[in-house]
Amino acid sequence: MGAAPAGQPHGAAVRIVNKWLSHRATKPTAFVLALCPLALLISGAVHQSLGANPAEALLRGTGDWVLRFLCLTLAVTPLRHLTGWHALLRLRRLLGLFAFFYGVLHFLCYAWLDMGFDVAAIARDIPKRPFALVGTLALLLMLPLAATSFDHAIRALGAQRWRQLHRSVYAVVLLGLLHFFWMRSAKNDFAEVLPYALAIAALLGWRVWHRLRRGALHERAAGLTG
Ligand code: HEM
Repeated sequence: MGAAPAGQPHGAAVRIVNKWLSHRATKPTAFVLALCPLALLISGAVHQSLGANPAEALLRGTGDWVLRFLCLTLAVTPLRHLTGWHALLRLRRLLGLFAFFYGVLHFLCYAWLDMGFDVAAIARDIPKRPFALVGTLALLLMLPLAATSFDHAIRALGAQRWRQLHRSVYAVVLLGLLHFFWMRSAKNDFAEVLPYALAIAALLGWRVWHRLRRGALHERAAGLTG
């Protein structure tokens, strides 16, 4: 077995997980799993088990899943580094696209169930409610990310420009969190916002720490060879 890079666990278990993640059935399985929240919401609506306010449950349920898929997408890189499960990368694009998919559904729930698809009323309502404006901005920022999540777009843009563009996912997740926080601030109820805030702080904090550490290692290597 080759030596593991510093800080990365290796061994039989990691190889098994990577092999399993590289299996051709993994992506279709992840795809079906990612559709389960939608299936549950539809089934709840059909069987009238979404509570007293089904429209609100659908709107909020889809909103929750946008944030969850954004967090899962952002968790791929730190997880790969911490566990050695590098084949997780195969699932990142799918997770990001599902965040967008649930974002579109969430907006459609709002446009349909809250606003009756009245475009003029929607155009008046969004600027009036700062939390909705922030959510709209987040969703609009997701559009170019979803549109360039295909091999052809990556080749056309070039890896560096593609990476730069896709850094706006950090703005998307922070705006999504602000949207949720702002919405709940009306009732001063942050209990459900806090776990997302902590998860997002950890996911972004890890990136800052990783960059600083890599910078320090490069400087040390340059000092040794200089
Ligand atoms: C990336 C984009 C977005 C994210 C991450 C997001 C996320 C969320 C979350 C987590 C909730 C609360 C769910 C809960 O209470 O459990 C929510 C609620 C809501 N969102 Fe979004 N959202 C986004 C975009 C939008 C857009 C574009 C609109 C419409 C303009 C919108 C309108 C609403 C409304 C009306 C509610 C419910 C407010 C209420 O029940 O009082 N969201 N959203």
